[in-house]
Amino acid sequence: MIYQIYPRSFADANGDGMGDLPGITARLPHLANLGVDAVWLSPFYRSPQVDGGYDVADYRAVDDMFGTLSDFDALLQRAHELGLRVIIDLVPNHTSDEHDWFQTALASQPGSPERERYWFRTGKDAPPNNWLSIFHGSAWTCVKDLTGRDVDGDQWYLHMFDTRQPDLNWTNPEVHAEFESILRFWLDRGVDGFRIDVAHGLVKDPALPDWAGAAAMVMGANTASERDPTGPVPNVPFDHGPMFDQPGVHDIYRAWNRILAEYPGDRALVAEACVEPLEHISDYVRPDEMQQAFNFAYLQAPWNAPELRDIIDRSLRANTAVGAPTTWVLSNHDVVRHASLLGYPNMAKSHNGIGPRDPQPDAALGLRRARAAALLTLALPGSAYLYQGEELGLPEHTTLADEYRQDPSFERSHRTQPGRDGCRVPLPWNADAPGFGFGPTGNTWLPQPANWNTYAVDAQEGVSDSTLELYRSAIWLRRQHRLGGGELRWVTDLTGESDGTIAFINGDVLVIANLGTIPVEVPRHARLLLRSDGQQGETDVQPDTAVWLLLDPD
Ligand code: GLC
Repeated sequence: MIYQIYPRSFADANGDGMGDLPGITARLPHLANLGVDAVWLSPFYRSPQVDGGYDVADYRAVDDMFGTLSDFDALLQRAHELGLRVIIDLVPNHTSDEHDWFQTALASQPGSPERERYWFRTGKDAPPNNWLSIFHGSAWTCVKDLTGRDVDGDQWYLHMFDTRQPDLNWTNPEVHAEFESILRFWLDRGVDGFRIDVAHGLVKDPALPDWAGAAAMVMGANTASERDPTGPVPNVPFDHGPMFDQPGVHDIYRAWNRILAEYPGDRALVAEACVEPLEHISDYVRPDEMQQAFNFAYLQAPWNAPELRDIIDRSLRANTAVGAPTTWVLSNHDVVRHASLLGYPNMAKSHNGIGPRDPQPDAALGLRRARAAALLTLALPGSAYLYQGEELGLPEHTTLADEYRQDPSFERSHRTQPGRDGCRVPLPWNADAPGFGFGPTGNTWLPQPANWNTYAVDAQEGVSDSTLELYRSAIWLRRQHRLGGGELRWVTDLTGESDGTIAFINGDVLVIANLGTIPVEVPRHARLLLRSDGQQGETDVQPDTAVWLLLDPD
């Protein structure tokens, strides 16, 4: 069980409205009580914060806004005392434009070794190719716009994300050496692993050929219509471009695997690789590469039993084939929180944010389904990732005013896509405190919805049917019954006429999730362990709920 912390929004110790490392350290007991095994920290490195810290200016320094290296060491020590492992985020696809390497490259001549660390190319009056940025617009920026020098008149540099996130050139051995040294820097400090950002993107086809498709932040949300806003969206799989999932990435992870193996104990690499079809993910978790890879197919799956069953089956098969644990995830800092997304009767899970002008979700339906989805997810064999706040049933901030939005994809899409700020709102800890206890002053870098007092940790603690207590019970039972290390056997005879049910046995636990419209009867020989609707007197599994039952050994 791995819990994702987005440091800007977890807890603020110094009162400036921005989360920080001492804030995280102080709140680690919440995670130990929740029962998770590890935390994954999104970036806290020195950064101009153009992309929430995924634009790193110094990979070996903590940004002042988050604290100091000593604060990091204290966090790590406290986490280890509490039995929590710590995984940190590594961003090797691109740096910030404020990184020394990029600044030196800009100050150097076209064709110089300094520019060879990035993708500088020539283009006469137009970018060197037609690639689009994942954050919208061209993936190229003209160098002269930054340096003002005539010599840079036909020079461009590549950035698959924001203009201020230049892509590194992984054909250059210097880049390999630098990242191997960065890995060692943090391993020497005692970190337990790394989540590798855009792991499928490091290697580009060096010919940089044109590509008809366009990649999107979220799988399926193809932005290719930008090429021709009046034309149809081309049916090109989003990841098959010459910049994604190239065979060469695997040598990089083999080298990193060997570095981690030099350190005592278990250390892990986790791939953020949005690849399609989902079977491709198994390439990233072969025995000599990474230990885990995120399951984007599951993250994006609609609330539909046959589709989910198929994705669960295929995910387990693909990972088992290479001896890796499958991962399961419902939300993260890049997608609309599932408690909101599931509140739309039929919304595709590929939306880049929800804004005040969009149709609003049904919060009660969303929460009901989110709780059922949690029981389904936490019962699956493998590793589960939780995104901060989901244990509170926290929804997306779906009415955040434009003036607060910071995600670069908002402006780059000409404000047509709200972006990811709505899932990054500071957490509510205390129902009655200013800023719901996010920090000591009530300041929060994004405004919180007024009704978040009901979601606050202290409003849910000890309340038996609260979402927080549901998660605690589920995580505790998951450990007791060894569900993470178990095996799944589908149960089909429960579903009867209805195809809306997902039912399986893992160890001695029978799991039934009803995604359909007809109540499902619980088998007589099973004893109730946990139900997502908290209705202890209820015997059936009502629509949009899930139950865990203990099977009679006979
Ligand atoms: C990953 C991160 C996302 C970031 C992007 C560029 O997808 O999860 O937040 O914007 O990489 O670094």
